[in-house]
Amino acid sequence: MLRFPGHGHRDADDVVIGPLDLAARVDEALAVQALAFGLGADEIAVRRQIVLRHLTYPGARALGATTTDGRLVGFVYGMPNDRAHWWSTVVEPYLRAQDNDGWLDDSFVITELHVHPRFQNRGVGRTLITAITDSAAEPRSILSAIDIDSPARGLYRSLGYEDLARQVLFPSAPKPYAVMGAPLPLRHP
Ligand SMILES: CC(C)(COP(=O)(O)OP(=O)(O)OC[C@H]1O[C@@H](n2cnc3c(N)ncnc32)[C@H](O)[C@@H]1OP(=O)(O)O)[C@@H](O)C(=O)NCCC(=O)NCCS
Repeated sequence: MLRFPGHGHRDADDVVIGPLDLAARVDEALAVQALAFGLGADEIAVRRQIVLRHLTYPGARALGATTTDGRLVGFVYGMPNDRAHWWSTVVEPYLRAQDNDGWLDDSFVITELHVHPRFQNRGVGRTLITAITDSAAEPRSILSAIDIDSPARGLYRSLGYEDLARQVLFPSAPKPYAVMGAPLPLRHP
């Protein structure tokens, strides 16, 4: 468990990072994702089914960031990649075109990482992704992020993730994504 002090005014702003029963707290997690990433009610309903399905995959794991009064304010989850998973089948041709598809083997996928806007930029996201990958058995990690300069892309680069493919289009997603990969353990500051 790692603790993050708040801004000094309220103990309730202190955040603790630890294991998360994401299936039990999926609605809280999606409420955080909706605020952080921008999701409408329809998208939340779709994501809910996808998250619950992901959690049945072998090796799927989640960590949460929780305030001392029990509110979930951030989460990360992921799993060992399987080339048969939908995400992997979408990115595979883009990676193959760059001769990078070997990254799909023996790799831990970060599926989602989100921090409530009021709790961003104090190291919670960095700790969540570092902690979940530190306990992975795989020698590398991959993920996809919207292909723009964003806090997420800056964070991933600072941890050692590099672009494996750009302008990756997921069916039904309006914006192109970048696929990034990093050797594990991630770079610690
Ligand atoms: C990406 C995200 C999870 C990072 O969480 P966070 O707790 O704010 O991240 P951290 O405080 O650990 O910041 C880590 C790094 O991110 C970058 N960063 C964070 N917030 C930033 C901001 N507002 N502007 C610029 N860079 C920022 C910094 O490089 C920071 O590095 P530093 O620790 O050297 O200062 C969070 O910004 C978020 O939820 N964003 C919206 C949802 C999203 O895009 N998720 C990722 C989907 S792929």
